[in-house]
Amino acid sequence: MKHLPAEAILDKMTTPEKANLCDGEGSWHTHGVERLGISGAMMTDGPHGLRKMVMKDGKWSTNAATCMPTASALAASWNREIAAHAANTIAKDAIAEGVAVVLGPGVNMKRSPLCGRNFEYFSEDPYFAGSFAAAYISAMQQNGVGSCIKHFAVNNQETRRFTVSANVAARPLHETYLRAFEIAIQAAKPEAVMESYNRINGKHAAESRWLLDDLLRKKWGFEGVVMSDWDAVNDRVASLEAGLDLEMPTSHGSGRDYILAALADGKIDESLLDRAARRVLALATKERPAPVPVDRAAQHVAALACARECMVLLKNEKGALPLAKGERIAVIGEAEALRYQGSGSSKVVVDSPANNALAEMKKYTDNITYVPFADGIDAAVGAAKACGKVVLFLGLPESAEFEGADRKTMALPKEQLELADAVLAAAAQPVVVLTCGAPVELPFADRTDAMLLTYLCGEATAEAAAEILFGETNPSGKLAETFPMRLEDTPSYFNFPGTFDNCDYAEGIYIGYRYYEKKKIPVRFPFGHGLSYTTFAYSNLAGDENAVTLTVKNTGSRAGSEVVQVYMHDNAPYVSRPPKELCGYTKVALAPGEEKRVTIPVERRVYSFYDEVRGDFYTRGGDYTLSVGASSADIRGEIVVCVHGDAPKTVRVHRNTYFRDVILDDRYAPARDIFAAAMLPRSERTPENEALGNTMDNPAVRRRMHYVLRQAVYSNPDCSETLIEETIAACNAALEGADKQ
Ligand code: BGC
Repeated sequence: MKHLPAEAILDKMTTPEKANLCDGEGSWHTHGVERLGISGAMMTDGPHGLRKMVMKDGKWSTNAATCMPTASALAASWNREIAAHAANTIAKDAIAEGVAVVLGPGVNMKRSPLCGRNFEYFSEDPYFAGSFAAAYISAMQQNGVGSCIKHFAVNNQETRRFTVSANVAARPLHETYLRAFEIAIQAAKPEAVMESYNRINGKHAAESRWLLDDLLRKKWGFEGVVMSDWDAVNDRVASLEAGLDLEMPTSHGSGRDYILAALADGKIDESLLDRAARRVLALATKERPAPVPVDRAAQHVAALACARECMVLLKNEKGALPLAKGERIAVIGEAEALRYQGSGSSKVVVDSPANNALAEMKKYTDNITYVPFADGIDAAVGAAKACGKVVLFLGLPESAEFEGADRKTMALPKEQLELADAVLAAAAQPVVVLTCGAPVELPFADRTDAMLLTYLCGEATAEAAAEILFGETNPSGKLAETFPMRLEDTPSYFNFPGTFDNCDYAEGIYIGYRYYEKKKIPVRFPFGHGLSYTTFAYSNLAGDENAVTLTVKNTGSRAGSEVVQVYMHDNAPYVSRPPKELCGYTKVALAPGEEKRVTIPVERRVYSFYDEVRGDFYTRGGDYTLSVGASSADIRGEIVVCVHGDAPKTVRVHRNTYFRDVILDDRYAPARDIFAAAMLPRSERTPENEALGNTMDNPAVRRRMHYVLRQAVYSNPDCSETLIEETIAACNAALEGADKQ
């Protein structure tokens, strides 16, 4: 139905009606304004499938929907088209159910493998998570269904999630934890942002004007609705002032009353309420597609198409996989009821999930000896010895991956490890199928010939797994996160989940592969890793700072898809930077023997780092290396590109300015002589040194470069406080002159 513009409706509304709009109606709706013929909009979880809850006979129940791969799985496709395919599929369910906004995707960083909701998040890499989320959000919204990106921001753990303060310095805050939001919000313009439960450096996200207004709206240009996470609001008036438009779910009128009281007391201006109500109205009155029933079978086909691209072949030696059709195998573990999703608000109710991997495998061979976990180790060992070839199903239980709690350990359950030890020792050719939504320790990895990570791939997990095991589908997923060797190796080991209500992000920007590579810590499976049943060759790499181009050839005998990754390295960093930062990727499908020339764009922004002095991102001018690889640890070629830098930061010279900063910044050139006269004692201003000028070639300059101006009164007997003042004035005059040009 077409409505008047939000502004026109707002003009007709009373103040209490507007305040009412800023509070949810029940668990899932915005309020309508009956008097004006405006109905509320429905919002529903979640990122991996629709979770529409309905009240029937006084009880909540959830309508069945299509269950897609969870975020960690979807990310492993490294295919933006698959992200879009998943979003399109969920959007169809949303349209059929009359849902206006889907609550997702979640783009929080995987700071620790232990976070209970890691299965709901894409990656440990901000560029990847942001660019991948943008594809998902754009597709969802092209269907007329709004997307609500979450949880904004720095929500990286479940422990004490309603109160914990993520204590994080400015650089990791912007570069690591806000970046994915920034990329996705600017590229895809989601209709809504869900702020997070936690505090950031002591301040509730819901009450942070800096976060919700200065950064999100003013700097990034976000125009949609900011809603609270469910019952995240701590102080309704403070959150309204900060920029939180909609409190969810309903506060049963208390939020509205706080707002009205603050207005009556003159504590806030009505324009604040208008601003929030206008945004909620715009979302609620947006024209949405009319409901169309979904074709359930077609939805399942879409779920299967996505699942096929998301599984990761972690290891494959001695031709262990694919299995031959009709082959005799022992299948051990929970193969009849494979996990396919995580637990919590993203849990989808599926009519008839095809999660029986045993039944799916029987489509390819009738020669299976099945030993379920409950039959015990002796039976499993007996079957392993008798069959030789074993497919052992291992993974995390649902209780390890759910919203509201973090894992305490990265280990698989003890009973599974015992089973694995016994079976792997007995089997001639062991294959492990691993089902979980986040990294686990794999102490037995060297004792298996092959390992397939299914992740939690939604309702088609079992079908896709069987197809890959028997070579019907060639695996093409790669990890969008690192599998470390052990929990003790992880960057946040000493600071996760923090102490009481404080969690110090002491590792700074070094999370995931950025940390393991910098510290040269061996990992089990690196970021970007994933194998195929075919092989690919990379050649003819060329490019510049804006794009790399290369030829990728399928050198094997099966059709397959390769994920090509581009990493950036700053060759002369001003600040500590990781050895590699992902800056581009693409997935290319190739028939046997086929080759394609692919071009991967590299945005200028990827070269920058967050400069805490400048309070903004900054790109150093000079050389950078772009490397192209099949994973972060399998680099196939590199080129050096020259990047034009940002104008140097405008920092006025003062008593604590370093000599180095004046020498390296050309805008101070007219004042260098006086600066040098202040800093350098006459004894060091020899003709030989002077001939080299006030440059880094001059040994006297080099010797003093790490000293600040005020120290000259100690090191240079000719320097006086007056000379220091004159030097400061001369430098700042030079700076102003340069800035005017
Ligand atoms: C979760 C959100 C979810 C909301 C509604 C909250 O507990 O953190 O991700 O969208 O509930 O179910």
